Amino acid sequence: MNAITKDLSKADIEALARYYSTRPYRVHKQKADAKLAKKGAKIHRHKCKKCHSDGGTNPDDDASLLAGQPREYITRAFEKLSNRERPMPKKMRKKFKKLKEKQKKALIEYYVSGGGANK
Ligand code: HEC
Repeated sequence: MNAITKDLSKADIEALARYYSTRPYRVHKQKADAKLAKKGAKIHRHKCKKCHSDGGTNPDDDASLLAGQPREYITRAFEKLSNRERPMPKKMRKKFKKLKEKQKKALIEYYVSGGGANK
């Protein structure tokens, strides 16, 4: 993707941002383990909701939308953050690095289930 985006002008980037900002937010419909998602919801409330508010569904947060992302995408994001291929804010790192593998699985299941959109 870097190869594609490096040739974009500032005007292109702004036009793309304007276009994406008009797109509605929709939760990706997919299967999730409800029991595990419930555990994930609890972990999210304790550790992540300060920045990823409304169960990871608030587009006005200064952080990524987590709820309703396709399973493969969110799993890959967790992997990249876990092995430090991808940076994250210091305050997020403090919480993220303490997560056990099974807690990460539960969080992923929560976001895959729709997170805060699944009320
Ligand atoms: C201090 C604020 C803060 C906290 C607390 C926080 N995050 Fe984040 N998170 C961010 C920001 C900002 C980004 C966007 C970083 C970027 O892309 O450079 C982000 C990005 C992410 C992403 C990448 C999403 C994507 O679309 O690629 C995941 C996954 C994530 N956070 C999970 C978590 C989890 C799980 C927790 C709780 C354990 C958490 N975050 C706590 C601020 C926070």
